[in-house]
Amino acid sequence: MEQIEKAQSAAALSVIEQRLFGRKDGAMTLAMKELKELDESARKKKAMELNEKKKKLIDAIENRKATLASPQDATLRKEDALDVTLRLPRKEQGHLHLIPEFYAEVEEIFGRMGFDVMESPEMETEDLNFTQLNIPEDHPARDTQDTFWMKMKGKEKKVLRTHTSPGQVRYMRSHKPPFRAIFPGKVYRKDADATHSPMFHQFEGLMIGRNVSLANMKAVMETAVRELISKDATFRWRTGFFPFTEPSLEMDVRWQGEDKTKEGDWLEIVGCGMVHPNVLRNCNIDPDEWQGFAFGFGVDRMVMIRHQIPSIRLLFPGDLRFLRQF
Ligand code: PHE
Repeated sequence: MEQIEKAQSAAALSVIEQRLFGRKDGAMTLAMKELKELDESARKKKAMELNEKKKKLIDAIENRKATLASPQDATLRKEDALDVTLRLPRKEQGHLHLIPEFYAEVEEIFGRMGFDVMESPEMETEDLNFTQLNIPEDHPARDTQDTFWMKMKGKEKKVLRTHTSPGQVRYMRSHKPPFRAIFPGKVYRKDADATHSPMFHQFEGLMIGRNVSLANMKAVMETAVRELISKDATFRWRTGFFPFTEPSLEMDVRWQGEDKTKEGDWLEIVGCGMVHPNVLRNCNIDPDEWQGFAFGFGVDRMVMIRHQIPSIRLLFPGDLRFLRQF
């Protein structure tokens, strides 16, 4: 008993345990074997004695083990090991995931600039996802490579929207210009690598008025990029093509990937342009009277650039070791 109480490590304890209860030559094991030699009444008495000792020794060993396992308090017993008064330090209290946190800022910034926020369905008709946006039947954007099609029993088949742009059509059909609005939400495409995920996030913007110009568009978008990514973000404008805008532009932002010694790559974060007259007409808005711009920002990529995250795939498993870094 004294040796057990003085043992200074789990290893020392297990040596003692072996000496007492080892299968071949443990002291207790041998004593138990010797019981056979005794006559009936002596055997009973001795067996009870031994069992009692055995129990005491095992308890002592377990207690000592528990004490050794919590070195900050040598008197702490196994049954006391859960400290219910433990409080998490402040910075360990939870926070929103990076994506909803980002969306909250988007709504705040665009709210300040007078934009409405509208949600639009994730399961969309082919008509609104493509046709009404001036994307012809045979346009490559409709290729089954890119789109998840939903078979609907006895109903018109649907698509998981490939962009937030159908929100534009829904909004224009239910509001009278002038107006400005954003449409945040999830979108889906059959794509997967470091910068593509089959589900990702966008927010669409739309502003229609009598004199809304490309210069207005650039001013609004540059304000958003500076507030949402960084006030000294490096970006460039490129011409682009979208069937539903004319002219169309794209914006790339410098992105420092894993290799911090290299100058970063350009990452495309948004497509935009002046709303195509055909789209206005599809929404019963007269293009001779009204004009304006639309854009569709890629949220996940903006979050990656802002926080220097090397792969889009890190954003979705909900791994706390990743999320706690922010
Ligand atoms: N919908 C386009 C995309 O997802 C982006 C875009 C939105 C382009 C609005 C122009 C205007 O790629």
